[in-house]
Amino acid sequence: MNVNLIIDRLDHQGRGIGYINKKICFVEDALPGEEVEINIVKENSKIYEATVKKYIKKSDKRVTPECPYYDVCGGCNLLHLGYNDQLAYKQEKVENILSKYGNIDPSLIGKIVPSPEQFNYRNKVSLKVKNIAGFYKNKTNDIVKIDECLLASKPINKLIKKINEFGKLEHISDIVIKAMSDEEVMLIIYTDSCKDVDTFAEYMSDFVKNIIIFGNNKQVSSTNKSNIIARLGKKQYIVNPLSFFQINLAQTLNIYNKINEYVIKSKSNNLLDLYCGTGSIGIFVSDNCESLTGVEIIKEAIENAKENAKLNGVKNSSFYVGDTKLVLDKINSNFDTVIVDPPRAGLDKKVVDDIIKISPSTLVYLSCDPMTLARDLKLLSEKYEIVEVTPYDMFPNTYHVETLVLLKKK
Ligand SMILES: C[S@@+](CC[C@H](N)C(=O)[O-])C[C@H]1O[C@@H](n2cnc3c(N)ncnc32)[C@H](O)[C@@H]1O
Repeated sequence: MNVNLIIDRLDHQGRGIGYINKKICFVEDALPGEEVEINIVKENSKIYEATVKKYIKKSDKRVTPECPYYDVCGGCNLLHLGYNDQLAYKQEKVENILSKYGNIDPSLIGKIVPSPEQFNYRNKVSLKVKNIAGFYKNKTNDIVKIDECLLASKPINKLIKKINEFGKLEHISDIVIKAMSDEEVMLIIYTDSCKDVDTFAEYMSDFVKNIIIFGNNKQVSSTNKSNIIARLGKKQYIVNPLSFFQINLAQTLNIYNKINEYVIKSKSNNLLDLYCGTGSIGIFVSDNCESLTGVEIIKEAIENAKENAKLNGVKNSSFYVGDTKLVLDKINSNFDTVIVDPPRAGLDKKVVDDIIKISPSTLVYLSCDPMTLARDLKLLSEKYEIVEVTPYDMFPNTYHVETLVLLKKK
């Protein structure tokens, strides 16, 4: 059956939306205003999902993606939209979600801050391996072999090329590359059979100093050191293979500088950094407060946070490992400023209640998912006034967007 559709708008995942007899149809790689002939790939009582068979009328906002893998790779999803239009899409997405699900006045939402780099901004990639290394094909577990990723930084791309020149990658399930600069590079190999990857590790040692091997998800060996250093402004951070670090350093610096402004203006004294990772935000702003407390669930990240506090001369700091909702019961609650930077799931309801109990005068929320942000802001807005909301494009060419919110106690 040939079906033609006119695309009305984009959904929150960057897919085109059209209607077939009033039933919604999500179409990959289709832009508003385009007329497309589609292949329906999924159908249930509420929705259709489709791919484009043929473009009958193309949008003038469409650009030709420079990535040779774009049609098959599931990595990025907005490369076919010009950058200014990507920004407009993300601005509207944050405004729609926060007003619809969080009752937030859209006039509080500032203009999205563009990423300093649209390409080569990622300091980390996770390659899937089945004899070859690459990314999953869109919505499958098949792998598309890649020699270069337009989003990955240059030192990462150099290594990807070398990895696929090696030949058959046996007994390896995943390879993660983290590169904070040309020199601070780490290759992490995940295997179920350490001996068999020695030849590969030895070959790669000509191109990268820090190679870490994980067997059955436990670190079993490393050449050189197991940490690399990330630099943001005047601060330095030790990052190990398991610690989270923001993937776009230049845009992270913009966000952290803004948080620092909030901390200075609020005259913060005792700061609580929840979901602190390697301690990065708290340490960044630590010159402007008297004490810093961090909470994070990954043990290795907290080890980094403690080292990082020392490395950056932060005197009055303590860091706790554990689930925020459990740790908050055990620590003192004398904080005038709380910063939260949770994963996409956002804040547990108990964490929202705990923050309200701690009752800081300043609350800063950094979010990578506007939906959970909207839900949490709605709960917090009983006691907190939303002062300023700023979207940041942390992930160009994907539908993802980061949002920073400043709240003050009512
Ligand atoms: C978006 S990252 C932010 C890290 C850090 N603030 C930064 O800017 O690098 C979220 C962090 O929350 C941690 N995390 C996830 N669930 C958690 C929980 N229930 N309690 C504490 N930390 C958690 C993750 O390990 C991760 O380091």
